[in-house]
Formats: sequence, structure tokens, C-alpha cells
Amino acid sequence: MNNQTLLLGQTFEAHANPMTLPWGDAVSVNATGAVLIDDRKILRVGSAAALREEHPAARVVDYGTHLICPGFVDAHVHYPQTAMIASWGKQLIDWLNSYTFPEEMRFEDPAYARAIAARYLDLALDHGTTTMCSYATIHPISVEAFFEQAAARGMRVVAGKTCMDRNAPADLCDTAQSAYDDSKSLLERWHGKGRAHYAITPRFSPTSTPEQLVALGALWAEHPECLMQTHLSEQLTEIDWVRRLYPQARDYLDTYEAHGLIGERAVFGHAIHLEPREIDRIAETGTALVHCPTSNSFIGSGLMDVAGLAARHIPLGLATDTGGGSSFSMLRTMAAAYEIAQLRGTALHPAQLIWLATAGSARSLHLHDHLGTLAAGYDADLTILDLASTPAIAQRSHEAETIWEAVFPTIMMGDDRAIADVWIAGNRRRS
Ligand code: GUN
Ligand code: ZN
Repeated sequence: MNNQTLLLGQTFEAHANPMTLPWGDAVSVNATGAVLIDDRKILRVGSAAALREEHPAARVVDYGTHLICPGFVDAHVHYPQTAMIASWGKQLIDWLNSYTFPEEMRFEDPAYARAIAARYLDLALDHGTTTMCSYATIHPISVEAFFEQAAARGMRVVAGKTCMDRNAPADLCDTAQSAYDDSKSLLERWHGKGRAHYAITPRFSPTSTPEQLVALGALWAEHPECLMQTHLSEQLTEIDWVRRLYPQARDYLDTYEAHGLIGERAVFGHAIHLEPREIDRIAETGTALVHCPTSNSFIGSGLMDVAGLAARHIPLGLATDTGGGSSFSMLRTMAAAYEIAQLRGTALHPAQLIWLATAGSARSLHLHDHLGTLAAGYDADLTILDLASTPAIAQRSHEAETIWEAVFPTIMMGDDRAIADVWIAGNRRRS
């Protein structure tokens, strides 16, 4: 009868948003903490001594000084780009044409789609990512493959069929009507099935005609419970192109706004080069933005103003943007976010970085009632960090005088070796 497990360790506990409040008022670590879970949910979070006494029958897993975090949430990723990550020498438009589109064409083959979905999800879990919001390709089978493989692993995921009806190879183009029809039938089949969530997914304004954006805006109006994800203002050459393709639009955001594609449950990746009007509209409408720092430096896009956007109370998530991003690791992504903020004159605190990778990303995806926080009632999706996973990290963290000084070397230098364990909906991945 007793399926309760008590996890002991240092617990990362966020009570509020450390991007808008002083981080010390919002986040704390309990050095002798405990998380009581069952085979789905977190039941209690508290001190090890109290929870041991109150739940003597629970199975105990003692992680010592490891840090028990909510599972990492990658708010923007392209799982079909797994096998072409780290492709050399191009910026956005050439990178799409040279590397991305040829790889995405391979997803016409259901067996390839299934193999890459499985490979990607296993790599994500190896790196402590338990939930992600992924683009698929234009092929409906690529969405099916992803949701099926995620369900086989018990994971809560968001995904959608990428829609493109111009400026891409013919084999990668749908139409306004087929994008609407295919997206509709996929979302009707998958949204809310188990732990699957659907995101209506126009790739970005340059690869959609206004007619396609109208159709997807209409679909979203019929299904406002779904997310709508796309790209915004990633590179200056892209913004110039958008200006030429949409001469009536006031700015890049307006290409979406004019077609009913901003607002609550809209999630825009990158959002680096924003005009003041765009920032105002994003803030007014509750639209979420996702920071993709390894991608933004790898493809040469620019430095997102994370601190300035957070100060406007815009929901912000953090993401790898694999394979424009150069890593599967949210630790590496936190490190890149730190470095980019430094280049803009701000030092993001480790509490803020982990919050962005967990509760912040969950909020940006409207999953914050389910996950991203260690508290009773949340999904038991957990990532356990070894704060001394390599000799280089250990020799630094052993000198630490505070918990945050002990955590920061793992953020800056950690990789999949720092992931001591992962729990998905109360099930241990490695036993
Ligand atoms: N803009 C449109 N498509 C993509 C993509 O696949 N990756 C990135 N980084 N930007 C995009
Ligand atoms: Zn992207």
C-alpha cells in the first residue's frame, strides 16, 4: 500500500520570482531538506528530521549533500535538429538553408522520426531535463513520434507541428489549409492526452504567408487552451527580411499581432532586438519570451536583455534551442545566460539561474500549476545535482563558504555528469 518515497538532500525551494524580488526573499536552500513523493506527485517538502519522523514507512533515498531541484524545463527546442547540433560556420538564414532544412526533410520517414525522438528524449533526461517545449517538423508523423516517445518515458512535454508555406524547400512546405487541418487534428488527438500538451507552431513570419498566419490565428482562437510558439527578432538580417515581406507591419511583433498570434499562452523564442512598442505590447498582453543564450551566441544573434525584460514583469523562460543552441544541457544554458548577462552589465545569481530553468520556464509554458517548483501537489519530476561531479568542480565547491558558492561551479562547469538522478512523475530513472 505504501508507495511513498522520502528523498533526502539539500532542497532548492522557490517561493516567489527572484527576477522581480530580491533573490534572497524568493528562493532558499534547505541544507537538511526532504521531499516526500508518491508514484505521481510531491506530497510534502520539509526538513529531513520532521518528515522522517512523520513518515516512518516511506522508503528513503538519501542523496547526502546533492541538490534536489525541480526537473529542468527547456522552454524552446527543436528535437529534429538533434543529429545536426554543432554545425559549423553559418548565421541564421544560411544555417537554416544549409543544415536545418535538409535534416528536417528526413522526418518524412516515420522510423527516422521515432529514432531521433527517442534519442533526443534520452539525451534530455541524461542532462536533467524532464520537460521541454519542442518544435517538430512539418510532418505530422514527427509530432506523433515525439508524443509517443515522451509518453513511453512518462514525461510531460509540449510540442507542435512546424508550419511553413513559403521560403523553404518544396518538400518542407505545407499550405495555409493543410497547416490548419493537420495542426487541428494533431491537437485534438494529443492535447491533454496523458501528459502531452499541444503548441500551435508557425515556424516564423518569413516562412509563413499572411494567409497561413490567419489560419493558425483562427485555430488558436478556437483552441485558446493550447500554446502558440514561434520565433521573434532573433537576427538583424532576419528582421530586415521580415520588413520586406510584411511592408504593412509596424514591426516584427506586428506580423503576429495582426493575425491574432500574441497574448496569454503565446511563447516567443529569442526576442533579442525588440523595439519599445514591441516590449510594451508583450508586457501588456502577458506574452512569454524565451531566452536561448547558447544559440544566440553560437548563431551570432545577439545579447537578450533578460534583466530589462524581467523588470517589465514579462514571463521569461530559459532554453537550449537545440540544435541552433550548442548544447542539450540546461546547466550549460544557465552558464551562457550568466555570461550574456555579464556582457550587458548584470550578474544573474545562481538562485535566479536555476529558477529560470525550472519555475520560470514552467511559467512561460503555462505549466506552473503542474511543475517547476518543489511543493506539495506538484508533479514529482525532480533532478538531483551532484555539486562535486568532476575534480575541477569538486576542488572549487569544497572551498565554498555558502550554498550558492557551492552551486555556482556546477552551473558554470557542469554537464551530464552532474546529474546524479532524475525522477519522472515519481519514477526513478536510474536505480
Ligand atoms: N528561426 C526559424 N527557425 C529557426 C530554427 O530552427 N532555429 C533558430 N534558432 N531560429 C529559427
Ligand atoms: Zn528555435
